[in-house]
Amino acid sequence: MKLVFLGPPGIGKGTYARAVSKRYNIPHISTGDIFREEIKKNTELGRRIKGYVERGELVPDDIVIEVVKQRLRQPDCRKGFILDGFPRTIRQAEALDEIARVDLALNFVAPDEVIIERISGRRICTRCGAIYHIKFMPPKYVGVCDNCGGPLILRKDDRPEVVRHRLEIYREKFAPILDYYRRRKLLVDIDASEQAPQVIPKIIKVLETYFHSEET
Ligand code: AP5
Repeated sequence: MKLVFLGPPGIGKGTYARAVSKRYNIPHISTGDIFREEIKKNTELGRRIKGYVERGELVPDDIVIEVVKQRLRQPDCRKGFILDGFPRTIRQAEALDEIARVDLALNFVAPDEVIIERISGRRICTRCGAIYHIKFMPPKYVGVCDNCGGPLILRKDDRPEVVRHRLEIYREKFAPILDYYRRRKLLVDIDASEQAPQVIPKIIKVLETYFHSEET
């Protein structure tokens, strides 16, 4: 099951990918998570990309493609993977085609006001990366991760002025990616305007239908 999760910032790609990864036991590969981890550890890669990520700009293609290439070579990706946040440019999509054959690209769709409310209430665990929402998915104790007890923070790129910039970049760059997968008949739109417990079963249904019909 080789999947690509597409859609605007804050629509819930990471939330859904974590659920699908758990259900099918395939790795969830989020380029955003990888970059945030490198920045946190202050590695050479982290120092190179920090400015782009914190300003909400795209990291240069060569860097992102190399990171994904290395990750997809790991043995846990043999039976499948979920790519979250990649590809974001046609060059990245073409590079991905050379590395792996994507089975399906799921495109999550919701109105802007829904997305902005999700981003502004998001909190992430600095220790394990778990995702919460102060209203829709609150932790048991304010500011503390249910999984590992780590502190919850607002991401630097979730400040309102950076969110606006990320949404502009998304609108400017994303249509060609959707067309790329639509032309290959791999694109499935999923309405993500409902709460996550309603969206996740819709994703599972699409996957069961697609992969069941592949087997028969
Ligand atoms: P990345 O981390 O990929 O950010 P993004 O695509 O902007 O997506 P987000 O992580 O903001 O949102 P999400 O859709 O995963 O939503 P989430 O599940 O958290 O990238 C960050 C940066 O890294 C980029 O700006 C760029 O600089 C760089 N980068 C990464 N990949 C790159 C690439 N390929 N090329 C170049 N640069 C790259 O959910 C959001 C909130 O809503 C949460 O609080 C959640 O609890 C809540 N929520 C989720 N679903 C629902 C629901 N259905 N109902 C109610 N609440 C919900």
